[in-house]
Amino acid sequence: MPRLRPLARAMLSVCACVVAGWVAASDRAQGSAARANPAATASPAAATRPAAQSEPWWRHAVIYEIYPRSFQDSNGDGVGDLNGIAQRLDYLESLGVDAIWIAPFYPSPQVDFGYDISDYRAVDPQYGTLADFDRLVAAAGRHHIRVLLDMVLNHTSDQHPWFREAARSRDSPRHDFYVWNDGRSDAAGKHLPPNNWVSLFGGSAWEFVPAVGQFYYHMFYRQQPDLNWRNPKVEEAMFAAMRFWLDIGVAGFRLDAITTLFEDEKLRDEPALGGVNAQGDPRLSDVYTNNLPEVHGVIRRLRAMSDTYAGERVLIGETYVPNTADLDPWYGGALHNELQLPMDTLVGLGSKLDAGTFRQRLIELQTQVHDSPPLLVFDNHDNIRSWDRYGDGVHNAAIARIVATLLLTSGGAALLYQGEEIGQTTATPTRIEDVRDPIGITGWPREKGRDGERTPMQWDASSAQAGFSTNPRTWLPVTANYRSINVQSESADPDSLLNWHRRLIALRQSNAALRSGWTVMLDSTNSSVLSYARVGAEGETIVVALNMSAQPQTISLGLGASGVAGSRLTTLLASPAPIAGGAADRAITLAPFAAWVASLR
Ligand code: GLC
Repeated sequence: MPRLRPLARAMLSVCACVVAGWVAASDRAQGSAARANPAATASPAAATRPAAQSEPWWRHAVIYEIYPRSFQDSNGDGVGDLNGIAQRLDYLESLGVDAIWIAPFYPSPQVDFGYDISDYRAVDPQYGTLADFDRLVAAAGRHHIRVLLDMVLNHTSDQHPWFREAARSRDSPRHDFYVWNDGRSDAAGKHLPPNNWVSLFGGSAWEFVPAVGQFYYHMFYRQQPDLNWRNPKVEEAMFAAMRFWLDIGVAGFRLDAITTLFEDEKLRDEPALGGVNAQGDPRLSDVYTNNLPEVHGVIRRLRAMSDTYAGERVLIGETYVPNTADLDPWYGGALHNELQLPMDTLVGLGSKLDAGTFRQRLIELQTQVHDSPPLLVFDNHDNIRSWDRYGDGVHNAAIARIVATLLLTSGGAALLYQGEEIGQTTATPTRIEDVRDPIGITGWPREKGRDGERTPMQWDASSAQAGFSTNPRTWLPVTANYRSINVQSESADPDSLLNWHRRLIALRQSNAALRSGWTVMLDSTNSSVLSYARVGAEGETIVVALNMSAQPQTISLGLGASGVAGSRLTTLLASPAPIAGGAADRAITLAPFAAWVASLR
């Protein structure tokens, strides 16, 4: 049964509304589909909207997320590393990706597998050295691949020298780098946290430190104390860390948990929403801990800093928001002066493959974010894989092609997570003793953690380690289906999901309409089939039709009524094949979960 991980729901709605908000958000999206005016994207003028002459690379990039622990182990210790990534650059180039985003590989006690950083300017020895990183950036460049880093600005590790110093004395110069409060005491003199805030990872968000007689705030694990962004020295220090990597030549950053940098200065209690979350804590709103307006000042200054570097550096944001319109401020609205690519995490659309919901989202992305490009994301290292979320257990392979087609043909930039392109599945542990992700231990059995989507990349069937490692004890077990689901065998099969991705990416690279055209919805009252045209500056047009149902569907595209010119369709990609081209105004029958991409003349 596909499900959305409770953590993802919470992250999504770390915004107002927490879990209830996620449900409400997706309901709202569906409910407002009827209100939105599809004609907004369907006028002939819109259909010939010119694309910008010279667009920066990131506007329509394919970005590939690498979770370095699980990508490729080069030294046989059972954990992936930087040299392992370098070994796989040929593969990444053959897939056609423009950039890789590497999850944190900085020195870290690994409580949150790298998202607890103890040194922002070095490489954890288990992943390699700075020299390895330099070599990786240079080699990636030769493969036409840019390298993006993950930057964690919200918190450090409690083992970072700043925090160790801060926790020693209130007089320490670093004390004010973190968020401290004296808290309250009960009648017996016991120290109590200042308010009801809970950590996203379970328990109170406050931890008492006897040496200073104060609590510090942590949105995530207690080993991840939040930085105090109201202290200008924090901004100075973190911007300097980012400069260090920009100087080395990274193409930009994915900014982790960027919406949570600030907390309410008065530390007001979060309103309770009723009930408990997956960690057994009260469900709370997040009006005082997420999306505070102050964060935008930081991002504008960060963008100004990043823009001083040549080479179109990019800022990507981990921005779980409940509505498309809420993404707009993260771009900087009409000023376009904040993040170039706040992620549109489609995880928030839930686990139902629904044509109306996706149509509505695509319309919103074209009309509610001041012409900024979306960065569409279905999969990452925090969420149950789309294969399992959308799969119905029978048609998963066909459904995965629909997801890929939507991701890679609907405009903007696209983010792929390692293994998504071959249909890796989520292998959630079945016994608590096997769980590595701490939230799976504290939340068991309601929250089983994120190990399932972090299992090693499946490269080949040469050994039980699937080509990931030579060590039989990999840090997480390789999923048993590696014998059939792996890069090597799928490369050899022309009909594989991997080759479907390759063809889509190649098509997108060679076709300006697909890459940077304008989207016009077709047949827009159809509740089973999502159809749209991508119209380029010269009027060249690609038509996409995705049958999101388990029944055959006969559609009529209604191109004329949508203001899209052309009379003959030629199939470029079809799954299941064949879907014949021909007259564009005829009825077209699509098999269950068919995906079709055609050019229109
Ligand atoms: C982000 C990361 C997640 C991490 C958390 C805390 O959500 O994607 O893996 O646990 O931030 O840094």
